[in-house]
Amino acid sequence: MLIRIRKGWEIPDSQATPETVFLNRRRLLKTAAAGSVMLGAGGLLAACDDDPAQAAAGGDSETASAAEGGDPSAKLYPAPRNETYTLDRPITDEGLATTYNNYYEFGSSKNIWQKAQALPVRPWTVTLDGMVEQPMEIGIDDLLAKMPLEERVYRHRCVEAWSMAVPYSGFAMKALVDLARPLSSAKYVKMTTFENPDVAGGQRAAWYPWPYIEGLTMAEARHDLAFIATGLYGKPIPKQNGAPLRLAVPWKYGFKHIKGIVRFEFTDQRPKSFWEAIQSSEYGFWANVNPEVPHPRWSQASERVLGLNEQVPTLLYNGYGEYVADLYKGIDPQQEALFM
Ligand code: MTE
Repeated sequence: MLIRIRKGWEIPDSQATPETVFLNRRRLLKTAAAGSVMLGAGGLLAACDDDPAQAAAGGDSETASAAEGGDPSAKLYPAPRNETYTLDRPITDEGLATTYNNYYEFGSSKNIWQKAQALPVRPWTVTLDGMVEQPMEIGIDDLLAKMPLEERVYRHRCVEAWSMAVPYSGFAMKALVDLARPLSSAKYVKMTTFENPDVAGGQRAAWYPWPYIEGLTMAEARHDLAFIATGLYGKPIPKQNGAPLRLAVPWKYGFKHIKGIVRFEFTDQRPKSFWEAIQSSEYGFWANVNPEVPHPRWSQASERVLGLNEQVPTLLYNGYGEYVADLYKGIDPQQEALFM
């Protein structure tokens, strides 16, 4: 297989996108033998080539938002803004943030927002289990009724070196951890996305290790910044952005921000995430943003801000170092790939 390695900003999204990782040879050959993937020119490595303007052309922002009509939680938004968190850039245009998405369950291009509308988000049951005092299943609306909702403006930095700034609504993840009552022996939270290949066509692609999995340490999950987003732009969060609940940990690369979560499992085993299972040399457990640690195939020194058509320098921990650097004190970066 021929991969043209480009330098830094020569890399278009089509090559930087996590799907285009160099799938391990055995998996690729197995899949090719099964005839389920094209390995010719393009093939897996040319999964998408869409820029934000083209993706947005798939539907205007009004349509993308209108698709949210009828959500029973609509009355909960807008939630009061928590002013602790501020931005160093304008809020990204809603039409852009809701039509330029990564959600491989619905395909590998950025233009999946219409396909994502097929996902039923009611009823939606969230399981809290594993190393907890008492496993629990709770419907999303009952969960929302228990949680103190607020709005936070967060920067979002994708590992593909684009970024945006969005107003999420939702609740601090530590409130969910408190509800779950984990045992003191629990060291990690493993999160799992829904599985429904009938509506999520991407999940019919057998070469991915579905379902999407992500994990945090207990200290990260209890950190003030770790947020469960259930709303966006003062409305219920759109399906393409992860309805009815997704993670927002803004000091980490976007692939940690798991969407459409159905399960939080408390465990003493470090979870292996979706992208780590695909290519551990490119996507690790910690995935903290660091401009000085390049992705093996491109630089992370700067980022393209969606809507501004501007490259800006990327900041350590995506600018949230004052809040989170302490979490990693005492961890030897030679032993742990904290920034990948
Ligand atoms: N969650 C699931 N279940 N599936 C995905 O493909 N993509 C991740 C993350 N969460 C993804 C996911 C990536 S790579 C990014 S950058 C963000 O979602 C994008 O979030 P956004 O579409 O709201 O910008």
